[in-house]
Amino acid sequence: EQSPYTLVTQGSRTMLEAVCELLKDQKCHRIGVEKDIVSIRNFEKMSAIMSLVEWYDTSSILPLLRRTKDSSEVDSIRKAGQIASDAYREVLGHVSLGMTEKEFEALLEYTVKKLGAEGGWGNHNFIVASGARSALPHGAPTDKAFQSGDWVTVDFGAMVNGYLSDITRNFCLGAPNEKAREIESLLLRAHREAALALKPGVSGRDIDAIARRIIVEEGYGEQFSHGLGHALGLEIHENPRLSPLSHDILQVGDVVTVEPGVYFPGVGGMRIEDDYLITETGAERISGDLQQELAVL
Ligand code: GLY
Ligand code: MN
Ligand code: MN
Repeated sequence: EQSPYTLVTQGSRTMLEAVCELLKDQKCHRIGVEKDIVSIRNFEKMSAIMSLVEWYDTSSILPLLRRTKDSSEVDSIRKAGQIASDAYREVLGHVSLGMTEKEFEALLEYTVKKLGAEGGWGNHNFIVASGARSALPHGAPTDKAFQSGDWVTVDFGAMVNGYLSDITRNFCLGAPNEKAREIESLLLRAHREAALALKPGVSGRDIDAIARRIIVEEGYGEQFSHGLGHALGLEIHENPRLSPLSHDILQVGDVVTVEPGVYFPGVGGMRIEDDYLITETGAERISGDLQQELAVL
């Protein structure tokens, strides 16, 4: 009922055998295989069944086809960004001391769905990392309860028509201390300067360098331990990349994140992430408002 595809009955065969028989019926001599995705075990089984076939790697084809987002794809990501951003604002109003990271995550995912998204990030948890755990760039939510003075990093999004948004916000339980204000304003400056430079023809490496230079000049280069951003769409991480290693050149229709972060192991960290559409003249933020007020409670 739900599939848009022609159905083939598997019967008593394994799924792989059924697929191989279909391919044999087509008399295929050359078959593309996505080596990034197909397991070695399945590839070995298929090669044994179809020993005369020439296999070639198509891993780069679909990502290339998916790279440039058309207006309906952009609309979906924009809606996913707006819903996520609205949901975050709503959930912030329910934060209390003693609430756990997992409870916050569950409420955020519930709210994202309530506001009209299909879900959050599917099989991936949002990141909710509080106190010293906020120094973990990928801190999965735990039973740790929010405590007074905690910095909390929330990396989340929503799915609309299969397309994802990817946003990171930070808040403090109680008045932010001087360090929290310093790091937030540094990240906002690095984020804004890098986002202002986004336009077609610029390399991912150069955009990364703009944010990195600002953070290095303040003495926190070592603490910015990942690349500045990545494209997104049907998957959370797509090409092009914004990083010191990237050779990608931005094009109209790319949708990329900008997410500078600074992490102090054992102490805490922050990251500010939004999603941008590359346009003829520059870039447009499509993930709602930039970072909101740090203080909660
Ligand atoms: N959570 C990883 C990222 O924002 O790319
Ligand atoms: Mn993220
Ligand atoms: Mn991201």
